[in-house]
Amino acid sequence: MVFHRVARSGQVPEGYVRRFYVGELECAVARLHGTVYATSNYCTHLDCLLSSGKLIDDGIKCSCHGSVFDLETGDPIYPPASVPIQVYPVREEDGEIHVGVTAADVASGGPRRRQLRRD
Ligand code: FES
Repeated sequence: MVFHRVARSGQVPEGYVRRFYVGELECAVARLHGTVYATSNYCTHLDCLLSSGKLIDDGIKCSCHGSVFDLETGDPIYPPASVPIQVYPVREEDGEIHVGVTAADVASGGPRRRQLRRD
């Protein structure tokens, strides 16, 4: 696993979620109750961007249909999503935010678009 610098601390104020990239990997980076979290930017329900969502007491709420995910574990804690989102380790040091990813994370979490159903 390699930690990559994604932002200055001031770019993610308390209560905000923003989109950043680690190479091709798109992340939602959020600060809630003073702690910075990094997750996949894609909701597991229908791929809406979590960086367009909202932080609430329990975690991050998708703006499309209201699913809520735990920021530490990625577990869905409010439906309709039932599959966890990917979470990544974060280090905040010297005013900078670093996100830890593996080569497999980058390979599996790169930009994507919803696939059209062909049935
Ligand atoms: S796409 Fe996120 S709740 Fe539906």
